[in-house]
Amino acid sequence: MRLENKVVLVTGGASGIGRATVNRLVEDGAHVVVADRQVELAAEVVAAVKDAGGNAEVCELDVAEEGAAATAIASIVHTHGRLDGAFNNAGIAGPGVRVLDIEPDDWARVIAVNLTGVFNCVQAEIAQMIQQASGGGIVNTASICGLVALPYAAAYNAAKHGVVGLTKSAALEYGPKNIRVNAVCPGFIDTPMLEQAAGATEERREKISAGVPLRRIAGPIEVAEVVTWLLSAQSSYVAGVAMPVDGGFTVQ
Ligand SMILES: NC(=O)c1ccc[n+]([C@@H]2O[C@H](COP(=O)([O-])OP(=O)(O)OC[C@H]3O[C@@H](n4cnc5c(N)ncnc54)[C@H](O)[C@@H]3O)[C@@H](O)[C@H]2O)c1
Repeated sequence: MRLENKVVLVTGGASGIGRATVNRLVEDGAHVVVADRQVELAAEVVAAVKDAGGNAEVCELDVAEEGAAATAIASIVHTHGRLDGAFNNAGIAGPGVRVLDIEPDDWARVIAVNLTGVFNCVQAEIAQMIQQASGGGIVNTASICGLVALPYAAAYNAAKHGVVGLTKSAALEYGPKNIRVNAVCPGFIDTPMLEQAAGATEERREKISAGVPLRRIAGPIEVAEVVTWLLSAQSSYVAGVAMPVDGGFTVQ
């Protein structure tokens, strides 16, 4: 078990990639704090973990709310004495329109959740990890949209490019404190968000798959495996990467 007795926070842990990662981390022995705005769904995830004999707890959190991540982490530290790892993954799809048609409120919300939300978490996590002799590991969810641009997704592209920049800055500044900060850049992953953003029709799925070198959409577990590795000692010399998990999409 690579993460036995490690205390790990997962934001957006109630659904999709976050949920699969909660389960994968628990399998590797971690105690996982499942943080999400959708607290009832998070409670279902935790109940399923406990039924299977694992360790998890719920944390109601809106990552975009100023001070909320710091409060959540203070509470984790109060209970467990430390925070070993964090997966800052909560995110929303943006408006599917061209730059000229983006409403200011839509722009602001996507940046608030997908970029400032990650910043809020990273800042509170590093503040805690600096105080621990053991340091810590942080993984942020960016996207292929943090490496290249998809059309009709300017706010989302901007936020995810920002997450990659934030990840590199934090890795640079806090590597000397034994804190490794990395990002994953998922491609097309079968989750409720993909359905919402791209549509759920078979025709649409085939079109997406045809554009990926591996010719398929991935399951959330395929991202969870990479995140678990990045949070484990098996990746001990990996810092500051923005790792595509995209079936080869961004090499094209
Ligand atoms: N699905 C994909 O194809 C794909 C591709 C690249 C990147 N991503 C990224 O992966 C992450 C997870 O997405 P997913 O596909 O699993 O989507 P999802 O909608 O299944 O899960 C997202 C989770 O984040 C939570 N969330 C949203 N806003 C929040 C907030 N303000 N505070 C706390 N929790 C909040 C939601 O309640 C939900 O549980 C996102 O950051 C997304 O941008 C997804």
